[in-house]
Amino acid sequence: MSTRAIVLAAGKGTRMKSSTAKVLHELCGRPMLWYVLRALRAAGVDDILVVTNPELQDRIAEFGVAGIVQEEQLGTGHAVKIALGALPSDGSGRMLIAYADMPLVPEEMFAEVLRALDGSNALALVTARVPLPSNFGRIIRRDGSVECIVEVRDANPAQLEIDEVNAGIYAFQEPALREAIARLRNDNAQKEYYLTDTIADLAGAGKRVTPVVAADPLHVLGINDRAELAAARKEMNERICAQHMHGGVTIVDPDSTYLEPELRIGRDTAIYPNTTIGRLSEIGERCVIGPNSRLSNVRLGDEVTVRESTMFDSSAGDRTSIGPFAHIRNDSQLGEDVRIGNFVEVKQSRLARGVKASHLSYIGDAEIGENTNIGAGTITCNFDGKRKNKTVIGRDVMIGSNTSLIAPITIGDGALTGAGSVVTKDVPPGQRVAGNPAKPLPNK
Ligand code: UD1
Ligand code: MG
Repeated sequence: MSTRAIVLAAGKGTRMKSSTAKVLHELCGRPMLWYVLRALRAAGVDDILVVTNPELQDRIAEFGVAGIVQEEQLGTGHAVKIALGALPSDGSGRMLIAYADMPLVPEEMFAEVLRALDGSNALALVTARVPLPSNFGRIIRRDGSVECIVEVRDANPAQLEIDEVNAGIYAFQEPALREAIARLRNDNAQKEYYLTDTIADLAGAGKRVTPVVAADPLHVLGINDRAELAAARKEMNERICAQHMHGGVTIVDPDSTYLEPELRIGRDTAIYPNTTIGRLSEIGERCVIGPNSRLSNVRLGDEVTVRESTMFDSSAGDRTSIGPFAHIRNDSQLGEDVRIGNFVEVKQSRLARGVKASHLSYIGDAEIGENTNIGAGTITCNFDGKRKNKTVIGRDVMIGSNTSLIAPITIGDGALTGAGSVVTKDVPPGQRVAGNPAKPLPNK
């Protein structure tokens, strides 16, 4: 028996007031649609067709799923009809239907509605009890089965008092779904083909419609505007923080810690307030991150400290310390025991073990050998107006305070530059230079 899923994502999302398709709006660094697909796959459903609009269709390949365009959005039932038209029919298959604007649905909910379908004969769907008033469609029950769903705009006052609502997750026996969709009409307040009308159709034909009540109404929050998007982000962030705390990470203040999915954070690492970590970052054990830091796509070893700093697309080895107020970016690779202090920017550079740049420096397009000390105010002058040029500094070098290194340039192992030097020519190993332009000093 096959299990396939149709995900509806073609809606205009007018309430977002955006030029971006609704389901591409992000929470915790991933589009809404990404979360729905992740939960479906985790529930074992890999065969997924997304009903898109033209704008979303252009980007659907990024999500690793097939899409079909619904040119005119004539309602959720119409969207399903378009999808079914593109799918070869499977007489005994199960068809899960979900809306892409529900990123908080846990994978277990998809698994549960599929189990409920197996104990039923046509259809199971997820309902939730919510505080009223609510914009969700209302569930009308009879004898424990669902008789029909009434959309808010078609509901009478008595129906609006019902606090059990339609979450928007359905598991159908495929033949029953195909029959009911073929019979849909649009004689309602919105002149739309409602998927929800298939329930009355099947119940009327004597089929049992099994409700599965969601444990928490928040799980089925459908995002229609930016306030709901913010509420969903908060919930998702809490879940991600909780997962890491259960894994042994200290998060001092989850409310002001912003994490994305799929991070790896080692045990006994502590994250201090106002910190954002994203893009598949990997952080080792016993690190101290934050407060007030932003890390994206970083790889940190163990016992690394990053405080009051930003670090993007870069790595740092064990025991390295960054900040306060440092900026590490563009594939910079810091070795073990490196020290980057306040107001130091490192761009696309490799710093070997034990390098120190403790104050006020720009290090760009550089390679620096072990245990070299970069004095306060040192600048690699890497840009000549046309090209970015490399600076190569050997090991055990002393770069004096306020040195300007005019790239391309090479400073040999064990060399020294005096404070305020403007170094325009390569310096051989062991040589001491000073002045503007820097000249060799007599050996001591
Ligand atoms: C829908 C349900 C309602 C339920 C609520 C839960 C219907 C008729 N109503 O209402 O019972 O309580 O979800 O959140 O189904 N879409 C398309 N093509 C269309 C129209 C919609 O793909 O022509 C997609 C949208 O992109 C969205 C989803 O279907 O992802 C739901 O559409 P939306 O307009 O948000 O429906 P609701 O009014 O929220
Ligand atoms: Mg909706």
